[in-house]
Amino acid sequence: MQVKQPSLGAKKIMLLGGTGFVGRALAGALSRAGFSVTIPSRHVHRHRDLALHPGIQLIDMGQAASDMATLRVPPSWAELMKDHSVLINLVGILNEPKHNGLGFEQAHVAFTQTALKAASEAGVPRYLHMSALGADAVKGSSFYLRSKGRAEDWAHEFGTQNSIAVTSFRPSVIFGSHDSFLNRFVQLAALMPGVFPLACADALFAPVFVGDVVVQFMSALDNPAFIGQRIELCGPVDYRLRDLVAYAAKTAGHPRLILGLPNWASVLQARLLEFAPGKPFTRDNYASLQTPSVCTAGCPRQPTRLETIAPHYLQKSAHRSAN
Ligand SMILES: NC(=O)c1ccc[n+]([C@@H]2O[C@H](COP(=O)([O-])OP(=O)(O)OC[C@H]3O[C@@H](n4cnc5c(N)ncnc54)[C@H](OP(=O)(O)O)[C@@H]3O)[C@@H](O)[C@H]2O)c1
Repeated sequence: MQVKQPSLGAKKIMLLGGTGFVGRALAGALSRAGFSVTIPSRHVHRHRDLALHPGIQLIDMGQAASDMATLRVPPSWAELMKDHSVLINLVGILNEPKHNGLGFEQAHVAFTQTALKAASEAGVPRYLHMSALGADAVKGSSFYLRSKGRAEDWAHEFGTQNSIAVTSFRPSVIFGSHDSFLNRFVQLAALMPGVFPLACADALFAPVFVGDVVVQFMSALDNPAFIGQRIELCGPVDYRLRDLVAYAAKTAGHPRLILGLPNWASVLQARLLEFAPGKPFTRDNYASLQTPSVCTAGCPRQPTRLETIAPHYLQKSAHRSAN
């Protein structure tokens, strides 16, 4: 069944995951474009600055936002979504509390199901879903990628059955000020004495600028060509992880020799670091890196080159890690 382009009417948007790296960039753009944006958050006190943007309303969910993932949802969710013309779901995690896939299942699949069912009940006609490149319910190489694939498939199927116009986005790694990818490697490089031992050094990425991701979400809001699409988002150039880390470290003023670890040592590093505070690298991250994060041949590329943006924030990141 073909779902038609809904009218955006009230221009009111429910943005789940609006407090994260991508969410903040998108919230700002939506506010500038004159939308009213509702952002539920579990940690409102950390994100009060967001409410300074015109039209952005932060809703304190306490722990209810996590409850959405565990299905203990207060009935107020559908109530909250009333009068909204679009639901955008950016919620996602890279690491789960235990190492059994359940955390990913809850944050990606159960959360999406609950959010979309509430949206359907509230009569929200449009849904934009954030997935990831390589997401595949069956062939995904990690819990992360399989759960992302299941959530994406479920969203499209539910949308078709319930007349909600769905678009999903499948980005490679996203870069921009406050990203947790290049900034993380810069901070690690600052701690390494000359040589940087790197797991999965030949893993492939096509980093895409957060500003280009935001443009795609904004374009999808009222463009019928996006409905039902699963859109891959890649930057203009593919890189090996070792080249990205070397570039980020050098740009930030900590040039390092990248020592690509053999496979057994990459696995060992993941086993050890998943017990370190903040889980800087886990076995599931290792498994995700076995799938090249690059777009299928012929897929249109997003325009912004890493080298035109990253120096502006990596130098600041280096300054922060030095202090
Ligand atoms: N960044 C990338 O390179 C990249 C690449 C491919 C795909 N993606 C996908 O893009 C999306 C956004 O990524 P990001 O980099 O912006 O991530 P992020 O900075 O970690 O933000 C994640 C957001 O999800 C929310 N969240 C996480 N678990 C939740 C839960 N159980 N209940 C309610 N809210 C929850 C967080 O809220 P709190 O502030 O309350 O924790 C935050 O707003 C994710 O789905 C991610 O998988 C990102």
